[in-house]
Amino acid sequence: MAFGSTTGMNESRKLYVKSFGCQMNVYDSRRMADTLAPEGFVETAEAGDADLVILNTCHIREKAAEKVYSELGRLRRMKEAAAAQGRRMLVAVAGCVAQAEGQEIIRRAPSVDLVFGPQNYHRLPELVARAERGGQAVDTEFALEDKFDHLAPPSRAAIRARGASAFVTVQEGCDKFCTFCVVPYTRGAEVSRPVEKVVAEVTHLATAGVREITLIGQNVNAYHGEGSDGRIWSLRRLLDRIAQIDGVERLRYTTSHPRDMDNDLITAHRDLPQLMPQLHLPVQSGADRILRAMNRRHSRADYLDIVRRLRDARPDLALTSDFIVGFPGETERDFADTLALVEEVGFSGAFSFKYSPRPGTPGAEMDDQISEQEKSERLQRLQWTIDRNQAAFNHSCRGRTFDVLFEKPGRHEGQLVGRSPYLQPVQVQAPASLIGEIAAVTITEVASNSLFGVLAHQPRAASRAMQVPASEPGLLRAGA
Ligand code: 5AD
Ligand code: SF4
Repeated sequence: MAFGSTTGMNESRKLYVKSFGCQMNVYDSRRMADTLAPEGFVETAEAGDADLVILNTCHIREKAAEKVYSELGRLRRMKEAAAAQGRRMLVAVAGCVAQAEGQEIIRRAPSVDLVFGPQNYHRLPELVARAERGGQAVDTEFALEDKFDHLAPPSRAAIRARGASAFVTVQEGCDKFCTFCVVPYTRGAEVSRPVEKVVAEVTHLATAGVREITLIGQNVNAYHGEGSDGRIWSLRRLLDRIAQIDGVERLRYTTSHPRDMDNDLITAHRDLPQLMPQLHLPVQSGADRILRAMNRRHSRADYLDIVRRLRDARPDLALTSDFIVGFPGETERDFADTLALVEEVGFSGAFSFKYSPRPGTPGAEMDDQISEQEKSERLQRLQWTIDRNQAAFNHSCRGRTFDVLFEKPGRHEGQLVGRSPYLQPVQVQAPASLIGEIAAVTITEVASNSLFGVLAHQPRAASRAMQVPASEPGLLRAGA
């Protein structure tokens, strides 16, 4: 059956991708769009207009997984409305819910045409063609081939549209088996991409104007990719290599596990000026009993020791973390240890979650599950403590001058919004030509969710012209 509008030879089909969950999914969603672009798919901001809608889903907590089904209810109505206009809309479920539930999704939501897992989306053109021919397509077998070898690279236009900061997946999956976590089941075993593939992708992005690269992986600091010398490279070695690529001015990596924070990686924070002074290092709990039950394979003291060594290496380093409250067996005393750890480390921010028992994980089978009420109450107390720490950190930025990477126009006329080295949004009165550039900003005011500042120097005219025409202010960049 014909697909989309019939506007002649240059007929394009519209694609709408909605991403849930982590940065890994954001990256995957972009690569799905890249891979469908040669097939004539152009992204649209309106699901209702789309010929193909992809929900890239997250399975980490029950709430995240349930969102998919309410979203599918909405899409069914849109699909019916499109059909009433004689237009066919395909609906696809991708990501970790697809991986975990497979065929079950089509049973619960028969209007779904396609289901595919995080390791199969390189087959999208073929899957779409199959669904177009009328059948439903489910593909959640872990692919034998490497999906990265089959994905189309992003076009320069796509890179520019996405801005000066980009994610690059270097590692996927997890072998750690924390007892609360579904990741080892949905994303599979730990796999690292070869060094040269990562280098090629970063170089491609940097030549198109990307200034900030975040290397991502479920367990990014367990990276062990094959180098061109035939040896296995660590994340430290990979960071050293990427820091040499022309145009890469800022580097980050996420998410790390404390167990893999080795000395080489810690000293990268001292040695590499491009490495931003901010690290996300999930700890989950401050109580040894709970860390053991979670199979985290480190103690509270180990974590504090890593923090001390990181701060020795980079005194202005800010730390963020993830916490789970109400893991089975967590007592009030264990929880107090978590609150005390937050105060001791002084995080610049953190995510906190109520424990959600996930089918198939050991935690879900444990005795002493904590009541919903207790979890909510602890979550509130923890969030209050984290918020206070975050506010203290933000206030400590007042009067400081640091580099801001400008992203887009701000809320008010003449304002731009950018990111500080600590990822805080910063609002500054600045010319639009600074979008995509880094400039020094002095912080003058601190509000709850963002900082306000003034340019520390008057910007010089953009002198190092990029491959972007002057009529596209997006990625022009001033001379260093
Ligand atoms: N329940 C609650 N939070 C969870 N996380 C992972 N699994 C669960 C779960 N079953 C949290 C952890 C992890 C973050 C990505 O999500 O804090 O670091
Ligand atoms: Fe999940 Fe633990 Fe692996 Fe992180 S380290 S992805 S929390 S199993």
